[in-house]
Amino acid sequence: MLQKILIVCAAAFFLTIAITSIAKANGGPHGDYTTTTDACAGCHRAHTAPAAKLLAATSQYDLCMTCHGSSGTGANTNVNDGKYMARNPNVNGTTSTAVNADLIAGGFTTYKGSPVTSRHDVISETITSAWGISGTNRGALGTMSGGALRCSSCHNPHGSPNYRMMNTTINSVAISVTLTDEGSAKNYGAEHWSADISTACDGCHKSYHVTSSGSASDPAVAVNGGFTHRVDRTTSKASYLATTGISMRGGVTVTLPFASQYVTSTLTADDKMIVCETCHLVHGSSSLMSGFANGGPTLSGVQPGNTTSGDSALLRADNRGVCEACHQK
Ligand code: HEC
Ligand code: HEC
Ligand code: HEC
Ligand code: HEC
Ligand code: HEC
Ligand code: HEC
Repeated sequence: MLQKILIVCAAAFFLTIAITSIAKANGGPHGDYTTTTDACAGCHRAHTAPAAKLLAATSQYDLCMTCHGSSGTGANTNVNDGKYMARNPNVNGTTSTAVNADLIAGGFTTYKGSPVTSRHDVISETITSAWGISGTNRGALGTMSGGALRCSSCHNPHGSPNYRMMNTTINSVAISVTLTDEGSAKNYGAEHWSADISTACDGCHKSYHVTSSGSASDPAVAVNGGFTHRVDRTTSKASYLATTGISMRGGVTVTLPFASQYVTSTLTADDKMIVCETCHLVHGSSSLMSGFANGGPTLSGVQPGNTTSGDSALLRADNRGVCEACHQK
């Protein structure tokens, strides 16, 4: 009972904070603090905190979800279901993001109305190793220095000069993702990253970030785990993909995003890049994997290297829709 009352009080408190906040570069209670800010009280308690780091909820995930969850009230970005919701008129994004727009990072529990088939698991707060972390090969797991994977492994809740508050250092790797979003009138339904967005993954998957020509065929450049698809390379297919996209389950059109695509309309068709997020969603994906996409050539393979019906490797289209979008074999 006491717990219930506390939850209700906390929810009311968060709501008040969000409503009284003015639009800021980082958004909501994140960063841009004044000397008498109220924001700290939205997330921290000085003497009776239920979780470490003096957090005002029983886990970091629960804290973030008080505002960003399915039934959160303090933020419009519902990252649980990957939807932008009009539940608080006074926070960033309301003027330029359509209500019910799909969030471009995906969802942690459902996405586009279906249960996710893979996610960066920030819910269990027990995952401590990542594929291809600095010093290990692609396909090999290495230990993360900052403990278990959480929202704060990627985002700085106190704001950051990077796009979408990405940390400036992750596992000792310096991260710089240029902020090209719209300041206070944010749009969470379309890409506003810049061409360096792949570095957002460097802190945990550095060995996947291969930009050398020939990385898919030339043995001389096949280091750190075999041949790999090159990234951060421009593609002449971009102008076609940006307007047409590929058709998916339920008639939904998937347009694979390209860095800088929406930043300025003066870019030439070739000035579009293949980045990690061209093929992957970051938070979680509900794409379906069947046939060879369920276990690879042996039909029984698992990660790394294979997707399964229970693990879609964060791919943003069903099976290998991402490949056909460009190669159209
Ligand atoms: C949106 C929620 C949120 C707000 C608002 C917030 N914090 Fe935090 N803070 C966190 C979380 C989550 C952590 C733990 C991060 C981790 O474990 O890596 C943390 C960690 C900290 C830490 C310890 C680690 C560090 O970064 O030094 C301090 C000190 C801190 N916060 C102070 C503050 C102060 C002061 C304010 C107000 C200006 C504030 N926080 C506002 C969520 C928040
Ligand atoms: C593996 C790194 C990673 C983790 C873990 C992560 N995020 Fe994100 N998040 C990102 C990136 C990168 C973006 C920008 C995505 C884009 O623009 O395509 C993003 C975007 C967002 C956005 C903006 C809405 C959107 O969909 O673009 C919010 C809000 C957000 N994250 C909150 C959270 C919360 C809350 C958690 C924990 C429950 C979390 N994130 C965990 C990397 C991460
Ligand atoms: C007290 C409410 C509250 C809490 C708690 C909270 N947020 Fe937010 N957050 C907001 C609001 C409001 C915005 C502005 C956008 C919106 O309305 O969703 C925002 C925006 C963001 C963004 C996008 C920033 C940008 O550059 O556009 C990220 C990323 C994010 N939050 C991560 C987190 C993480 C991680 C946690 C948990 C440590 C967390 N938030 C906890 C209210 C909150
Ligand atoms: C803070 C560390 C961190 C960052 C940053 C990060 N990841 Fe991950 N990633 C992980 C961990 C941990 C796993 C889980 C490994 C495992 O399955 O045990 C993972 C798994 C994955 C998987 C496999 C998921 C599955 O279900 O099989 C993909 C794909 C992936 N990450 C892509 C990305 C991309 C793309 C980015 C950049 C936008 C990124 N990651 C940024 C830590 C991170
Ligand atoms: C051309 C599409 C494409 C791009 C671009 C891409 N990936 Fe992947 N990724 C895949 C596919 C498909 C899989 C599923 C396994 C496979 O086929 O090897 C995968 C799997 C993964 C995995 C799971 C472990 C494994 O090896 O199976 C991680 C981690 C990952 N990708 C990270 C990244 C990062 C980081 C980037 C950017 C540097 C990136 N990916 C760019 C298509 C892509
Ligand atoms: C965004 C467009 C795009 C997507 C999506 C994409 N590719 Fe590619 N692919 C390219 C480009 C451009 C190159 C040339 C890269 C270079 O310069 O080495 C390439 C190179 C390749 C090569 C190497 C060809 C060679 O001669 O070395 C193979 C094989 C390949 N892709 C397969 C795939 C598969 C499989 C997928 C899905 C997992 C995929 N591609 C997704 C654009 C794309």
